[in-house]
Amino acid sequence: MTAHALQINPSILTADFGNLAQAIEAAQAGGADAIHLDVMDGQFVPNLSFGPGVVAAVKRATHLALDVHLMVQEPDHLLPAFAEAGANLITVHAEACRHLHRTVQRINELGCRVGVALNPATPLEAVREIAPFLDLLLIMSVNPGFGGQPFIQTSTHKLRRARQLIEDVNPLCDLQVDGGIDAGNIADVVRSGANVIVAGSAIYNDRAGVDENIRTLRQAAGNAQWRMV
Ligand code: DX5
Ligand code: ZN
Repeated sequence: MTAHALQINPSILTADFGNLAQAIEAAQAGGADAIHLDVMDGQFVPNLSFGPGVVAAVKRATHLALDVHLMVQEPDHLLPAFAEAGANLITVHAEACRHLHRTVQRINELGCRVGVALNPATPLEAVREIAPFLDLLLIMSVNPGFGGQPFIQTSTHKLRRARQLIEDVNPLCDLQVDGGIDAGNIADVVRSGANVIVAGSAIYNDRAGVDENIRTLRQAAGNAQWRMV
């Protein structure tokens, strides 16, 4: 396997939007690898979040890379605005793009890294042809739209198959998992092949500070590693 260091990307969805700069600084100080930004359009997913203006504000508050997860139907017309706002990685959903290869190309042309996400019910087969062109594959382990939902248990098996696909066609591609990740399942998803972990409610909550929560996740991941079976 290609050696991938474990990355933890906090999702600010459950952070206090009244103190966003503080939430970002806490993630940076706590050793986050990038900031995960969930953009929702109220159409592809049944919720609205924020747009390029907030992404630009986050950019001003951190030197960390910005990982922008677009839960947006046919996102092509919005890509330049997110690139301009400072996105380093833009992830689109396979289910939301009629011409996914063209969308992936556009993201590259804008100078960003590119990811493609799959909803829990979408077969891995949907990304077989696009996988060689990606910097990141995102396996959703909840239905996108809300933070704080429970992890869908079958996601670990899907991650294993996704990791195998990546090893076969594009070993430098990252494998990200997003939704319901906490200290109880992080080791499992890492063993299943994920190397980029998104966590929202496990990091931004009332139980502990952001730095302690990130530390707890890293400790729980321990030395877990993917191995081909
Ligand atoms: C869900 C988003 C996630 C969400 C994760 O639509 O894509 O990034 O914020 O939140 P938790 O970790 O609470 O499931
Ligand atoms: Zn997300």
